[in-house]
Order: sequence, then C-alpha cells, then structure tokens
Amino acid sequence: MDSSQPKAIVLTPQTDTQAASSLPRPIGSLVDRYGRVHTSLRVSVTDACNIRCTYCMPEKVSGFLPQDRLLGFDSIARLVHVLVRAGVRKVRLTGGEPLMRPNLSQLVQRLSAIVGLEQLALTTNGMLLSEQIDGLVAAGLTHINLSLDTLREPAFLQISRRDGLDRVLEGIQAAVESPLHVRINALLLRDINLEDCLPLVGYARKLGVVLRFIEFMPLDANRSWSRTQVVTGAEIRELVEAQYGALVPQDRADASQPSRDFHFADGVGGIGLISPVSEPFCSSCNRLRLTADGKFRNCLFGKQEWEVKRLLEPPLGQEDCSDEDLLAVAKACVEQKHASHGISDSDFQPPARAMYQIGG
Ligand code: 5AD
Ligand code: SF4
Repeated sequence: MDSSQPKAIVLTPQTDTQAASSLPRPIGSLVDRYGRVHTSLRVSVTDACNIRCTYCMPEKVSGFLPQDRLLGFDSIARLVHVLVRAGVRKVRLTGGEPLMRPNLSQLVQRLSAIVGLEQLALTTNGMLLSEQIDGLVAAGLTHINLSLDTLREPAFLQISRRDGLDRVLEGIQAAVESPLHVRINALLLRDINLEDCLPLVGYARKLGVVLRFIEFMPLDANRSWSRTQVVTGAEIRELVEAQYGALVPQDRADASQPSRDFHFADGVGGIGLISPVSEPFCSSCNRLRLTADGKFRNCLFGKQEWEVKRLLEPPLGQEDCSDEDLLAVAKACVEQKHASHGISDSDFQPPARAMYQIGG
C-alpha cells in the first residue's frame, strides 16, 4: 500500500558511514521485562482540542493545561535527544490537537535536526492543517495521520460536537498535495457512523491514501464505552470485501506495526485494520508515551506515570539533571510495562485520564 505513496520521505539522509560517524553515542536501550524493545515515542504537546469527539472528550471540559504546566520545547528536544541515544527511531507528535500548540513547527524543526531519528510524524484532526502545513513540511515533518470518521456534516457534528468537516477535508487535500507520507484514520461507532465505512473507503481510494480503521477503545472521558459500540476489524473486512472482493493481506513491514494492512485486488490503494480490542497487539508494542505535562507512560491503559518535567525544568536554584537521570526515568517506566492492556479482563478498569489527556 505504501507504494501508493511515492512521495514518502525520511529523515537522516546520510550514507551509512556518515551516519555511523555522526550518530550520538548510544546509552543503552529501552527493553522491558518481556523483551520488547522501545523504539517509538509518542509525544503529546497539548491536551487542548478544537473539537470534542464523543469517543475521546467530555462535552464540557473544565479547562486545559495552562502553558506553565506544558513541557517546553527545549525540554522535549533534550528528552528526544537522550531517547534517540537509547534507541528511539520514531517520534509521533499528538495531543489533544497538536496544531493547537503555538509554534509547533519550531518544535518540529528542533526534532528533525536530531541525528538518528528516522521518522517524525504528526497525528491531527486536520482542522488547522491547511494553514500550517507549509511550515511543518519546511521544518522537517515526514509523516502525517489525519482523523476522518465521516463524510456527512451532520454525523461530523454528532461525533465531534462541532462544525468543520469542510476544514478537515481541506486539510486532507493539502496533505495529499504535500511531500508528506499521509494516512487517514477512521473510528466507527456502531450506532453513529457504521454507514460511513464504505464511503470513507471510496474517498480514500480516490485520493490514493491508505485508510486505517481503529477500534473504539475504553478511553473516552464520558465512560460510555461499550463493547456493543465497537465495530471490529473482522466486521469491517467483511463489509469491504462484500463491496470490493477479497482483500489481499500484506506482510507486516515491521513486526511492531499494529495495523493489518490489505491491498484491494485491483491494486488501487488499500486499507489497514487496527484492532486493539478484538485482537490485541500488546506483545509487539514498542511504544513509550510522554504526556503534555511531562510524564512518561508505558501504555494507554497504564495506571502509573513517571514524572520528568520536574527533572527537565527544575525550580530556580535546583541543580540540572543529567542525561543519565532522564534515561533512568524512561527505563524505570519501560521496565514496569505490563504484558497486555487487559481490556478483556473481568476486573478491567479504564485509566483515569482520557485519550486527549494521554495522547492518541
Ligand atoms: N478509541 C480509539 N481511538 C481513539 N482516538 C481517540 N479516542 C479514541 C478511542 N476511545 C483516536 C482518534 C484519532 C486519534 C487521535 O486517536 O480516532 O484518530
Ligand atoms: Fe480532539 Fe482527537 Fe480527541 Fe477528537 S480524538 S476530541 S480530535 S483529541
């Protein structure tokens, strides 16, 4: 499917010899008790968002994090630098809505300059993308995921509790015309937008963009998740195959990739199915997360967080921390990672923070 994205670009365009000589000195790796090597970091840059998706946010938010509670760009860049030395190769910026963070392209520029980082991605709802994309591309962003759950304005309003589908579609168009590697992510809720499945597939095929369906997870602030609302990957495959004929499964390019990807039999485009609820992929998870207020998390569903903002931004008069101190916190977090998220366990409790507060 990625062959339909010939414009894909990656960071570190050096030759192997150049890279080997200029790569920062390695300082261990982030391996957990189950042997999972963590090479991917998700950085939430804000918990604020300009829409209110029901599967994520409450209708009324009591307030977003104030500026001084957000981890600063200097701190994020320093931390990523350290983590790249510990084996991280991919960073994804998320939120909330990451484009709500003022001057995001300045952070992108700082991160894209870090030697050894191979992919710098962004997940966005697309509302603010068309006005920011040039700056992001110039700053060195390589990949972008856009969320799109429906092509119908009333359903968009019902799902996101805001208007703005036209702005999202504009954002997608801008992304497709840019040099970025683009994907669209869709989430189907049985009672609201199941009927959008095939229209979304048709739209993405026309654009030549891979569309990935993500199962609804119990991460909504409303605590309204119910298994009956989850449209499983298997169900979506059946629906798509009824319309387009048998899908051709693709080999996973990378074992840690959560998506099962398929080509259409006619070779035009493809879809991906991400099924964390019906087919958990925890055993190959390689992700570490950093919240907007500077805490590491080892899992969306984890109950524990590891504070790093205090180390990175100590109160006046207190000593600066060393890179080793930062790495020690990341390692402690990774070492405590559980084998799986446990959504199907009888005693499962959703995390205290919702998706927008963790980072999607
Ligand atoms: N379950 C699954 N995915 C979710 N997202 C937000 N909330 C949930 C949830 N409860 C996804 C959105 C978007 C990304 C930022 O996170 O679909 O694509
Ligand atoms: Fe905003 Fe993304 Fe949450 Fe929707 S899913 S409310 S776009 S942070």
